[in-house]
Amino acid sequence: MKIENLREVAFRELERVRNQKELNSFKVKYLGRKGSLTQFLRKLKELSLEERKTVGPIAQKLKRELEGAIEFKKKELEIEPSLEFDITRPGQKPKLGHLHPLTKVEAEMRRIFLAMNFSVVEGPELETEYYNFDALNIPPYHPARESWDTFWLKLPAAKSGKLARPDLLRKSGLGKGQKLLLRAHTSPMQIRYMETHQPPFQIVVPGRTFRYEATDSTHETTFNQMEGLMVGKDISLANFKFVVEEFFRRFFSGQKIEFRYLPSYYPFVEPGLDVAIKLGAKWLEVMGAGMVHPHVFEAAHYNPRDYQGFAFGMGVDRLTMIKYKVPDIRLFRSGDLRFINQF
Ligand code: DAH
Repeated sequence: MKIENLREVAFRELERVRNQKELNSFKVKYLGRKGSLTQFLRKLKELSLEERKTVGPIAQKLKRELEGAIEFKKKELEIEPSLEFDITRPGQKPKLGHLHPLTKVEAEMRRIFLAMNFSVVEGPELETEYYNFDALNIPPYHPARESWDTFWLKLPAAKSGKLARPDLLRKSGLGKGQKLLLRAHTSPMQIRYMETHQPPFQIVVPGRTFRYEATDSTHETTFNQMEGLMVGKDISLANFKFVVEEFFRRFFSGQKIEFRYLPSYYPFVEPGLDVAIKLGAKWLEVMGAGMVHPHVFEAAHYNPRDYQGFAFGMGVDRLTMIKYKVPDIRLFRSGDLRFINQF
């Protein structure tokens, strides 16, 4: 047999070795006194000097390689004494992931609104000052800005005029001298959507929002909201009341709910209100809302005399806490599997 063939056959055979006994016979078969490699080496003498010079070192090297491989295999077999299948051994159940409670609740909310003929749209988490504030009737220096503790972005590169990705920054609005921030609510999407669509329409906007705040059991720096906006020629608070009550009845299906509408203030609506629901004995505030302010329509280049509509915003975390009786909002993003696995 040629040395190359011998190598191939030997290694292929070694791969199939399943226990120490087989390994011993393998060793004897190739490296024993009458082993095929031993014999091969012995027969080298019979070859011409020329042949010996080329084949000799190859055969010697193969011998060392086989010895090494046998040693390695031996250790491997010691760790896993039998690589043979034990078909009676119970299988291991693969661990399956599952949806995070916030994802689950957001999906349920989307489903309900889609069933009520709303469209679901999403917007950027990195926003400009304009969309997050000005266009929503919250001008600079307006005290209402204090209601949204905002993460502002520092962009040292922009100041020095050396932009790493001017294309991206221009898209984001920075080119227009805009300051950037992490959106403090999903309301900016009201403007972005109206800029590119004409009424009538009804949308919801789920998404992550951010506040520069001290955290406690009901406050997080990152949380999820769902915004709603319905605009048409004659959309009224009566339409709002129907949509909201229908939504909550479906969301808390089977539970008795009462509703309360409390006057409130948000710069982008007039009148503004808060919605509270009574589940069991407790009244819970679950939503800010109101009729879209004429300034907001103007910012989107609508004539406020042509259209009217309602808007609302609610906390997905808060609804999840109510639905599943979660006592602390910080649990959601803690990454603690003891919590997550309960859902
Ligand atoms: N954007 C408000 C917030 O984050 C919630 C809100 C209130 C949204 C009233 C609305 C609205 O659309 O009409 O606190």
